[in-house]
Amino acid sequence: MKYQVTIREKDAVVEVPMGKTILESALDLGVDYPHGCRSGNCGACKSILHSGDVEMSPYSEYALSGEEKARGLILPCRSVPWSDCEISMIDDDEAVVHASRQLDCEVIGLEQATHDIKIVRLKILSGGPYDFSAGQFGSATFVDLPPRDFSMASQPGADELEFHIRLVPGGAVTPFVQDILKLGDTVQVNGPNGTAYFRENHRGPIILAAGGTGLAPIKSILDRAFATDAGQPITLYFGVRDERDLYLEDYFNELAASHDNFSFVTVLSEPGGESKRRTGFLADAIAEDFSDLDGYKAYLAGPPIMVETTAEKLKGLGIGPSDCHADAFYTEADKKKLEENA
Ligand code: FES
Repeated sequence: MKYQVTIREKDAVVEVPMGKTILESALDLGVDYPHGCRSGNCGACKSILHSGDVEMSPYSEYALSGEEKARGLILPCRSVPWSDCEISMIDDDEAVVHASRQLDCEVIGLEQATHDIKIVRLKILSGGPYDFSAGQFGSATFVDLPPRDFSMASQPGADELEFHIRLVPGGAVTPFVQDILKLGDTVQVNGPNGTAYFRENHRGPIILAAGGTGLAPIKSILDRAFATDAGQPITLYFGVRDERDLYLEDYFNELAASHDNFSFVTVLSEPGGESKRRTGFLADAIAEDFSDLDGYKAYLAGPPIMVETTAEKLKGLGIGPSDCHADAFYTEADKKKLEENA
């Protein structure tokens, strides 16, 4: 028994024997399909399932988030078809795989950015160079605490890293970062991971949407866009609850003043009083400003609810499914809930 899997861009039909994965069969037949680990860990093979059914064996959430799965994305290296299927690749020309690194770092900067967000700067002491794509994240281990994922706000290849870390009350790690971490402490960082990275070949306009510390990967993407002289229109929406949750505002306002192609919009969802800023939900603010996002790329990062509602809204405004790159920040409590509901 075999199922036929049509790969849109390759104009190819791959026959997949029962029990074999789509990627295995495609590679066996000489189809040049993007891949990396072949084990559901890197996300390089991530694809859109347009029709048909597949069963996926276990994979890392780094490679495919719950939100991406819900949007119909699959990992062909873990996908066994249960019917004929049609799939297409995501950014065939922009799949990236960076060498996995284990870095020893030293804390060289600690800045209280808001009442509950700390900007932590690390110097890489050994294990570099740390190549990653802007928008990816690493796993940081502080002393003997459990590792936690944080997005790099800094630039790929630099010898310093920047993380934005929000206090999660009752958490195992972030209270330590807020209250105890000090200059000179050592931190281990493993990575990079994540697929919501900047696609540098795209020359069309870009929407960036950040909620809270989702600003970290979005800052990395924006800085990378300017570093590579991307001249397309870029609009950054930064959504927070109230005034006291805003940070790095001067940084982005200065970039907006010095780049004609860049606009910066802040949106408060729960202002405590009168405000001259935009208020409401970030997704609604984007929908007020844009009526057709065909040809755009969007990068979203922040709390799951904000990422999901914004992705949904952008879809309704015509953005292509492979043009919306989302990184939802799940706390340990969120992950537990997802596991219980799986
Ligand atoms: S090849 Fe790495 S997740 Fe599929």
